[in-house]
Amino acid sequence: MPSLNDIRSTFLNYFAKNGHEVVDSSPLVPRNDPTLMFTNSGMVQFKNLFTGVEHRDYTRATTAQKCVRAGGKHNDLDNVGYTARHHTFFEMLGNFSFGDYFKAEAIPYAWELITRELDIPKDKLLVTVYHTDDEAVDIWKKTGVPESRIIRIATNDNFWMMGPTGPCGPCTEIFYDHGEQYWGGPPGSPEEDGDRFVEIWNLVFMQFEQFEDGTRRDLAAQSIDTGMGIERVAALLQGTNDNYATDLIRSLIEASADATSTDPDGPGKTHHRVIADHLRSTSFLIADGVMPSNDGRGYVLRRIMRRAMRHAHLLGAKDPLMHRLVPALVGQMGAAYPELGRAKALIEETLKLEETRFKQTLDRGLKLLDDELADLPEGANLPGEAAFKLYDTYGFPLDLTQDALREKGRAVDTDGFDAAMAEQKAKARAAWAGSGEAADATVWFDVAEESGTTDFLGYDTETAEGQIVALVKDGALTDSAAQGGSIQIALNQTPFYAESGGQVGDSGTLKTDSATVTITDTRKAAGVFIHFGEVTQGTLTKGDAAVLEVDHTRRTAIRANHSATHLLHEALRAALGDHVAQRGSLNADDRLRFDFSHTKALDPAELAQVEAEVNAYIRQNAPVETRIMTPDDAREIGAQALFGEKYGDEVRVVSMGRQAGSGKGNDGQTYSIELCGGTHVRQTGDIGVFVTLGDSASSAGVRRIEALTGAAAFDYLAQQGRTMAEVASTLKAQPADVPDRIKALMDERKALSNEVAQLRRELAMAGGAASQPDAREINGVKLIAQVLSGVTGKDLPALIDEHKTRLGTGAVLLIADAGGKAAVAAGVTQDLTDRVSAVDLVKAAVAQLGGKGGGGRPDMAQGGGKDAANADAAIKAAEQVLEG
Ligand code: ALA
Repeated sequence: MPSLNDIRSTFLNYFAKNGHEVVDSSPLVPRNDPTLMFTNSGMVQFKNLFTGVEHRDYTRATTAQKCVRAGGKHNDLDNVGYTARHHTFFEMLGNFSFGDYFKAEAIPYAWELITRELDIPKDKLLVTVYHTDDEAVDIWKKTGVPESRIIRIATNDNFWMMGPTGPCGPCTEIFYDHGEQYWGGPPGSPEEDGDRFVEIWNLVFMQFEQFEDGTRRDLAAQSIDTGMGIERVAALLQGTNDNYATDLIRSLIEASADATSTDPDGPGKTHHRVIADHLRSTSFLIADGVMPSNDGRGYVLRRIMRRAMRHAHLLGAKDPLMHRLVPALVGQMGAAYPELGRAKALIEETLKLEETRFKQTLDRGLKLLDDELADLPEGANLPGEAAFKLYDTYGFPLDLTQDALREKGRAVDTDGFDAAMAEQKAKARAAWAGSGEAADATVWFDVAEESGTTDFLGYDTETAEGQIVALVKDGALTDSAAQGGSIQIALNQTPFYAESGGQVGDSGTLKTDSATVTITDTRKAAGVFIHFGEVTQGTLTKGDAAVLEVDHTRRTAIRANHSATHLLHEALRAALGDHVAQRGSLNADDRLRFDFSHTKALDPAELAQVEAEVNAYIRQNAPVETRIMTPDDAREIGAQALFGEKYGDEVRVVSMGRQAGSGKGNDGQTYSIELCGGTHVRQTGDIGVFVTLGDSASSAGVRRIEALTGAAAFDYLAQQGRTMAEVASTLKAQPADVPDRIKALMDERKALSNEVAQLRRELAMAGGAASQPDAREINGVKLIAQVLSGVTGKDLPALIDEHKTRLGTGAVLLIADAGGKAAVAAGVTQDLTDRVSAVDLVKAAVAQLGGKGGGGRPDMAQGGGKDAANADAAIKAAEQVLEG
């Protein structure tokens, strides 16, 4: 009996053997279709190949595609668990031809695969064709299917369209007859919805493109798109008609039963089925970057998660259950979908966190529900207000309440629910209006209310399609914008990062079929990402689909700077101490800036240590990991959080660097852990290199380091290298000898300046500056007083000493006239210092020289002034001191 994994390989191998490129499943969040919530069939990733917009180097492909149908048009959520074939997650096997083969090959391929490779008995198979498609009927007959087994269908069941617009065409479907023991009739009969005849494969003959106005045009090339439900084929090959009884899903049901010590087929059967299905969709969605939230895709994920969690609760699970089932899922599907294994920790933590939180309100919510029901007349619907309270206060999405009521044969008054929701929105609006937000931000609140907040895809991709939900020109909403002038654009989803947490907003381009826009900045208000730009060509229209492309080079540089900031923060703490805390940061494309609490300037050795440590972690090239946690859990593992900052229920935690022994984190080995919503490099090595430009004071008690990474750092270092080479050539030395050469020159300079000073003094004493003065005697004290030019203040003490020696006993006053400014020094021989103080002589002179103060010891004092012209008066003043 082939397993589901065997069937997948058989399918892909068969088409590979027939010249098809085996292409990986695309992510569940479509990159190229903004109108689609989740990838819901194999052809989604090939949409543009069918319409001829895109070409690849293959024209035949085959895939096993992950699909989610929950939320949006195809919503199977309500039925999952209660039926044999509804899923939120399933795999679609497909083969595709892009203008290569058409009906005549597609039909025989399908027939050979199912009857030969998979050995499905021919007499159990039926096919349907679109009622006018005689060509398909002929090909089926030639392939060996008798006319009695070919059913013509006139309805849209056999005309496949991916949506209201896009590639489409008639299709032929293959059905399997599970036998008389099941109720049901063949397709087209009144009993067709029974369980007996099950569609297993749909072959679409893509030949038209449908437009919004309902018109169709022929596609340039006729193409093939097929979709086989692997779970259905597994069921029939494994002798059941219940997808939940097939090996893969059954193993998940058993994991759920084991973990709750319950019977997989007992009274909790439905719960296990819900859990098994929802485990698949939630895990794959998380692996593809969706996180539970209150909006858009994240909200659909949350609804699925909480639905599963209520069923876990009904099974009596006391502790969070879902995350414990992830290893079973990875064991089953991790080989075919490696992204599942890579994201295992993220999936487990996200599920555990959500379940822990939801459990806190679940009991009270269920009690409220029971109380409400007890008061209601038999069979009456639950009032909308009660359902809204469950939603608003207890986190019960509406479909969860509906699911709970379904078991009791009741429903919700959805009109009442909608009315309660509208009332709450009106209150939120009033609160917003009163919150003092800038007036121009209210327009974005309107946009958020009307179209929802923006889904940010930019952690995983730099290009994506988005649908324009609002255009704002000069502060007012508009439906279109022509070339020229600035414009602000909001889309339902975007890869552009909006400025926050110190990281600058992305720039890049936005293109629609009729316009090109240069985006210069991205910011956000009320959860809406606002793209600032200018239409450089054509006219931009609200509602258009746009291809968004982030400036890759710039984003790469921003990413490197942001990751380097985290390493810098940690290196500063290591070098300076735990008092270092972030006070501000800027992560731009050309540099990074980090402000932190620290009172002193960093000395060169500290700065060098920090720089070396950051570079060591860059060279370590450790992966950068991102997780979502509660703020408390994050703090527990040592995450750096901004003090006083308000964090929501969940925080994004970015970790990088391995530090054996003394690190943080659950394993005690992580170097840096920070709460951060920014974009980061994949591995620290992507930062390249880190250089600081020095540290400066930012404000009281806060230092600022500016630094460069990557290409900017390289250019800076290269520039320094070139400067060094120039210096070397001026010095006529090799660059490596420059430091020694400079030291030798400095020593030489010092020796020369000493020599010059000596010569100046000798000159002064030899009467070069003025003739050797005679000593006068005043009050019994010999005084030499003299004005000198050509000497500096520094020379004076040595000259004073010389005069003192020559005098034997007495006082000396010397004034150096340095270009109008005066330096003065006085000396008194030791034997007289108890009578005369050099300090008094200098002070008296300084006062005349237009200076202040002057001081020293009784035997030697110095001072200065700005008026050397008053030297004579200064000497007089000193003489008066001696005169007493
Ligand atoms: N795209 C086709 C389907 O989803 C094959 O059924």
